[in-house]
This record gives sequence, C-alpha cells and structure tokens, in this order.
Amino acid sequence: MAGKINSDDLERYSIRLGDALDEQMRRVMSPDDRKSDKPLRRFSIREMADLCIGMKYNTLRSHLKTLKGLPSGRMEPGNKKTYALEEIHEIQRALFQAGKLPDGTQPWRLPGEETAKILVYNLKGGVAKSTLVANCAEVLAARGYRVLVCDLDPQASVSDLFDVRADLDNVPSIYDVLRYESADDGPVPAHQAIAATYFPNIDILPGSIALTEFEYETAQAAASGVPFYQRLQEKLAPIEDSYDVIIFDTPPHMSFCVITAVYAASGMIIPLSAGMLDVVSLEKFLELASSTLRSIENVVPEKKFDFLRFVLTRYQPSDPAQLQLSSFLRHTLGEAMLRTDLLSSTAIADAGNTMNPLLEVDPSEFTRKTYDRIAESVIGISLEIEQEIMAARGRKSSVREVA
Ligand SMILES: Nc1ncnc2c1ncn2[C@@H]1O[C@H](COP(=O)(O)OP(=O)(O)O)[C@@H](O)[C@H]1O
Ligand SMILES: [Mg+2]
Repeated sequence: MAGKINSDDLERYSIRLGDALDEQMRRVMSPDDRKSDKPLRRFSIREMADLCIGMKYNTLRSHLKTLKGLPSGRMEPGNKKTYALEEIHEIQRALFQAGKLPDGTQPWRLPGEETAKILVYNLKGGVAKSTLVANCAEVLAARGYRVLVCDLDPQASVSDLFDVRADLDNVPSIYDVLRYESADDGPVPAHQAIAATYFPNIDILPGSIALTEFEYETAQAAASGVPFYQRLQEKLAPIEDSYDVIIFDTPPHMSFCVITAVYAASGMIIPLSAGMLDVVSLEKFLELASSTLRSIENVVPEKKFDFLRFVLTRYQPSDPAQLQLSSFLRHTLGEAMLRTDLLSSTAIADAGNTMNPLLEVDPSEFTRKTYDRIAESVIGISLEIEQEIMAARGRKSSVREVA
C-alpha cells in the first residue's frame, strides 16, 4: 500500500542489498583469486642496486660475491639473477652491518628518532591520493622502510589493493580502533586490527564502511565534551615504534576522522591535478584545511608539521592547457611543490578494477619508454618524500644514491 513505508522497509532493503553484495564479493573474489596468494615479482641486481639499496651496480655485485652468507638469488633463463624483496632486505641489513653502506643512511629509525606520519590530503576525489599512497608505500618499503598504511576512507580502496577486506572478512578495521566505548562493545587496540600484506615491509590498518559510524558517534561524544582531536594519535601511539613511516589515505570529504588524522600527522602531501577547476577547488580546500588546523591549534597551540608539499598528479605535459597550469602552479607554490610530477600513465591506472602500483607491474608488459617514464616519476616522488622523512629525523647525509 502506498504511503506505508517506514524505517523497517528501508532496513530490509539495506539487509537484502548487504547480503547480496557479500555473496557477490565472495563469488568475484574467491580466495584462490586473492593477490596475496601470488608471489610479488622478483627484482634484478640492477633494480636492487638502483632502486632498493642505492649503491653502484658494480660495487654491489662485488659485495654479493665476497660477503659471506648472503641470499644467493635465483638464476633465471637468460643467465639473469633475480631476488625476492625479502632477500634484498636481508642483503641491505648485511651491507649496513659490514659497514659497506654509510652510517646515517639507514632507512630504519635510529634511537631517538620519530616515526614519520604522512597525511595524503585533498578533499577532492580522483586526484590520485590512493594511487600515491600505494605507490609511495611500496617504493619506501622496497627501500627498507617499515611502512604502515592507515586507510581512513570508508571506501577502503587502498585496503582492497592490499587484499585486506575488513568488512568482508569480518575482522577489525580502523573503525574498531577509533570507536567509543558502548554498553556492549569497546574499541580494540590497534595491533589487533593491523594486518600484514603480501608486500614485505607493508602492514595495513584497513578502512571500513563503518567509519561513517565514527562520524555520528564523534558528533555525539563531542557534544558531551569528549575531546576527539587526539584520538587517532593516542590509538597509534602503542604501535608506532614498529614502523618508520605511517601513511594516511584520506576520504574525499571532510570528517572528524580526517581532522584527527591532521592532528596525528607530522607531514602533509597534497596531490592536485592540473585542471582549472581543480586549481579553483584547491584554493577552497586550502582555506578549509587552514581553518581546520587553526581549530586544532586553538586546543593544542604547539601542533606543527615537519613538512607540507604539493604534488602534481595525473599530469600530461603534452596537453598545452595542463602545461600552462603546471607552470602557473609551480610559479605560485614555488618550492612547496615536489620537483617530480606524477605523470598520467596507463601503466599504473586501474586495470580491471584494481590499482596497479608500479612495483607490481611487469616491466616487460610495456615498452621500455613507457615503463621508464612512469618509473622515474613514481620513484622520483617517493625519493623526495624520503628526503623529507630524513630531514625531519635530522639526518644530514640523507638519501642513498639512485643511479
Ligand atoms: N598517474 C596516473 N595515471 C593514470 N591514471 C591514474 C593516475 N593516478 C591515478 N589514476 C587513476 O585515477 C583514478 C583516481 O585515482 P585515486 O588514486 O583513486 O584518486 P583518489 O584517491 O584521490 O580519489 C583511478 O582510476 C586511478 O587509477
Ligand atoms: Mg582514494
């Protein structure tokens, strides 16, 4: 009968849809198809030298021959040796131990150094936040940093990419860590929600659709005087020491969750794309971000960031309009812009609904030029971020050379 619909009906639709989606997800992603079961690609000695360790190729080769007890890699057809990332990290540790790599360039934190907490922040969707988070996390992890990716987007696309699906698998998510005490349930400690991923050195605190509940609950808690700014920071404090870098992926909307991440962060990366409308919305975003920060400073005046950098994303220098806007942005934002742009490239764009971070694609599937172009871009950005991490630690001779 018309006009007799109430909340029960809506709830019924929600339950029906939820069940159907779960079923669908289970069918589409049968456990056999999970990427986590597939091994990551292996790396050549050239890549180990250039990308991971930062040492001249010939020097590395001679150490591989002379140092005792190192992983020996695998000989591939064509007389080419490859190594798993775990083996490369073992070699890296051995090289530091043997004094073959300069002291002070270790990716891991030395006593007294803080974990870098990087917020990838822009309230606009589609500016490659999640793409940057995934790619930079992987490059830093490959270079020996222990990385925690903290997914604050209810859409959880970065968690999906790392094959951690809290909602589907019914395991705790960042929501369960952040949530408030209630009559029948309470928050869980962060270490219970952290999941290892198939990528060595990367763990994830998965996102969840339940993060939307956190908004509602925080509004209620704040109304009764419970402070929330420090919430994420406090929850992460017990596990921080296990990581060198924590990267926060954020949703494309303002939320309490984002504000608490602004408070927790020690550095900010703001991705932006080179379209006129994007630049206009950037202005509005910066205004909002500044007032968010000001409201935090009102409560905690000593809140400061180690760095704030902008990065141009999905950039096509062959497009004259984008070229012009990029030089306008560079002129206006100056040194605050990373020198390297994230070039638009089909090599790392979504394929079949999954992101393709650079270190997971097979270079042989692309022309040399296509691969080198996007590799230079992704690695260049990650190294500039690494430089900021090292500068914040107060290291002088920071980033290891990349040939
Ligand atoms: N450098 C790039 N080249 C081509 N496509 C990209 C690039 N970076 C991101 N994309 C695509 O743009 C879309 C939005 O990226 P995403 O990282 O999800 O943005 P956000 O997290 O800011 O919403 C995705 O389909 C992604 O594959
Ligand atoms: Mg995203």
